[in-house]
Order: sequence, then C-alpha cells, then structure tokens
Amino acid sequence: MNAPWKPGSVGGRDPFAAFVCDDETLEMLRPVAEEMGWSDSKCNKGGLRNAIQTLSVSASPNILLVDLSESGDPLSDINSLAEVCEPGTVVVAIGQVNDVRLYRDLMVSGLQDYLLKPFSPEQLRDVLSQAQAFLNQPKIDDPQAEKPHISTAVIGTRGGVGTSTIATSLAWLLSHDRDRLTALLDLDVHFGTGALSLDLEPGRGLTDAIDNPSRIDGLFIERAMIKANDKLSLLSAEASINSPILTDGTAFFQLQEEFRAAFDCTVIDLPRDMLINYPHVLGDVNATVIVTELTLASARDCIRMLFWLKSHAAQSKVYVVANKVQTANLEISRQDFESSIERKIDIMVPYDPRTAAQAAKLGQALVDAGKSSKASGKIIELTNLVLGSVSGGLDPRDAGTKKTLMDKFSDFKSFLPSKKANEDAPKV
Ligand SMILES: Nc1ncnc2c1ncn2[C@@H]1O[C@H](COP(=O)(O)OP(=O)(O)O)[C@@H](O)[C@H]1O
Ligand SMILES: [Mg+2]
Repeated sequence: MNAPWKPGSVGGRDPFAAFVCDDETLEMLRPVAEEMGWSDSKCNKGGLRNAIQTLSVSASPNILLVDLSESGDPLSDINSLAEVCEPGTVVVAIGQVNDVRLYRDLMVSGLQDYLLKPFSPEQLRDVLSQAQAFLNQPKIDDPQAEKPHISTAVIGTRGGVGTSTIATSLAWLLSHDRDRLTALLDLDVHFGTGALSLDLEPGRGLTDAIDNPSRIDGLFIERAMIKANDKLSLLSAEASINSPILTDGTAFFQLQEEFRAAFDCTVIDLPRDMLINYPHVLGDVNATVIVTELTLASARDCIRMLFWLKSHAAQSKVYVVANKVQTANLEISRQDFESSIERKIDIMVPYDPRTAAQAAKLGQALVDAGKSSKASGKIIELTNLVLGSVSGGLDPRDAGTKKTLMDKFSDFKSFLPSKKANEDAPKV
C-alpha cells in the first residue's frame, strides 16, 4: 500500500518498471504499458534476477512487474527482491507455475498479484490497472484513511442562487483548510462555472467520461482531473452547446465510485435538472446542500426538493442554506420561509457583492478571496456541518414532514402580503 492519491509518480519514483524473461511477453507488455501512460523504456528483458540487481542500485518504481519463469525458487527469490525493493512498491508477478500453494505463499510475501502464463493483453492490463488502483488508495496507516469518505451534493432551488459559489467554496475549504483530498465534480456539462471561477481550463475530462463510462477508473480520473490546489481536483467540461448530453447516467455513478476510492471528499455541483433526468445521482451521497434565496419561487422549489430527497436520497443528511440574504427588502422573511418548508434554515449566508466580485476577478473561491468576510464565516459553518454528516439516517429535523410538505405550500402563500401590497413593495 502506498501514499494517498497523487497525480504522476509517488515520491518522485518512476511510476513503473518491468523485468520479463521472453520477447513475446515484452512485445505484449510494451503497448499495454504505453496505454497506462508509462514509458516503454522501463520494460526490460531479464526476469527476477535482473530486477534484483537493478533495484539494489536504483530507486524502486511505484509498480513493479517481475517474471518468475526462470526462477528455480520463486518464493525465495521474491524474498530477495523484497530486501532490495523500497517499501511502498506494488509488485505484480508473472510466471508459469500453476500451484495454488505457491500462489498463496507469494501473496503472503506481499505480492499484489500473480498472473499465470499464457495470458492475454486484456488480462495483463487488468492486473496492472488493479495495481494502479491499489496504489491510489489512501494508506492504511494514513490518519485520513480512518475518516469515511464524505460525498456532498450541492443543488440550487433556482439558477443564480449561488450553488456553484457554495460548492466551490465548500470544496476549497475541505481541501485547503481541512486537508482533505477533495474532488469537485461540476455536473453542469454545458454551462458549468467550477473551472472558470477557479481560473482553470475545464478540459474534456467530464465529456470523455460521459462518452466512455467503461473507461472510468483510477487512472482515468488521475489524467482527466485538473488540480486547483494540492488537495483539490476538479472534473468538469464546457461541452459544445450544439451537443446534447447523451447518457443514461452510468458515468455519473462510476465517477462517484472512483472518487470514493481515491479521495476523502467529493463535492458535486448539481444542476437541478439532473434530479429529474438522473435521479440515481444522489443515491449514495452523505449530504445534500440545498442552496436557496428567500423568495416565493425558491420556497416552492425548496419544498419540492425536500420532498423529492425523502424518496430518492433518504440516506442523505439535508442542509438548507439561504444565500445572498439581505436584511432589508426580503421577499419572504426567514420565519415565513422556514414555516413553509417546515424546517429550519441551517445557514444564512449574507449578500456580499464585494467579496463575490473580488472572487470573480481573482479567479478564486469566494472563501479564498474574502477569508474574513461574514459570508466566508457562514460557509465555514456549513463545512463543519458537512464534515459532521454521518452516512445513513434522516436528519431529525426532517422527520414527519413527508405527508404535509406539499400541502403546506398553498398554506404558505397566505404568509405573503396581498398582491396589491406586493406590487407596492420595493423589489430586491
Ligand atoms: N453571498 C453572495 N453575495 C453576493 N453575490 C453572490 C453570493 N453568492 C453568489 N453570488 C454571486 O451570484 C452569482 C451567481 O452565483 P453562482 O454560484 O454562479 O450561482 P448558480 O450556480 O446557482 O447559478 C455570481 O455572480 C456570484 O458571484
Ligand atoms: Mg452554477
């Protein structure tokens, strides 16, 4: 087992080296290694003995493939290899001895896998991909490894309420301030602003994932994701507006699976239409943040989303965040909003156009651009709530609202002033 996920090689070592006995295996290996993004110059002929000699005088690679075919005593030779191989290297062996006891003993000696000859290029690729995925996992003795993965979806009741601002800031705080390896998944495939707001190029990562969900694995995300800071990686797209999304949503599910293995936290910036088209997308999240404004339209959609979440993401904690809150000129008071949605608003983020503009100009997350602003303070509170989310269980504050929530919306309208009075009221 090795260091937590990092792009490229771990600790400056070569990502891969191979020592194989025959030309046929070498010929098969080269294209597979290239496909994995490794240099074919690291595919050596020579077998286990050669590997031991080479590694006794040079740094060990992250992944080592050794051929045991010419070894008279594979087990003892593997133990000799262990003496020269630095800790952390994932060793995969190939050989022609089909003996279950040897296999078991080799695995006990710390081998990651043993591939029996003859094998196909696909089998070789699979074994190497598994080694890579193993390498990408957090270390067992890593203090972070004990913390369960936290996956959070951020959804806006309407466009423009600040969903992306909150999602990006949350991801920033988790990674930068809380030291969690974090993936930010911007699922607004055509119009996403995750990359733009962090001054990054979105790349084609998300579009590629949607087009080829079967290719999504540890290596794919390592290549497709863009680094925003040491611990924050982003997957997004700026797909052509001539191309509709053509997917059954498999990619979204697969991506979340991979993120769970490779990161400590996932933050999903989720356009609300996704709930309708791909309801399973929230099936496994630990927390859902509904971002809203204190308006009539947002109240209606907040009620509908809370209701929807109960049947489609009952495992998720739900937090309601009112954003861009102004003390004056509120369309609806906090109290009336809370009565209508039949629960408390968890966090009220004030309207802070100065910090928002500053963040946009600098290409930074709002919490990064205005560290000491009140708005940032509130998003830090939200981060604490999200980190406190445990998997499973409804938030007690939501309990018992299922039957009446939709009915409540019509009652709620009575909180509003009469139409005439409303027309006279100053607009926000
Ligand atoms: N608390 C806030 N105060 C002032 N402006 C904000 C705040 N939150 C977000 N904004 C601004 O509102 C606009 C829309 O935000 P964005 O996060 O893109 O919304 P959404 O993703 O919901 O469409 C952006 O210009 C953003 O800077
Ligand atoms: Mg957005």
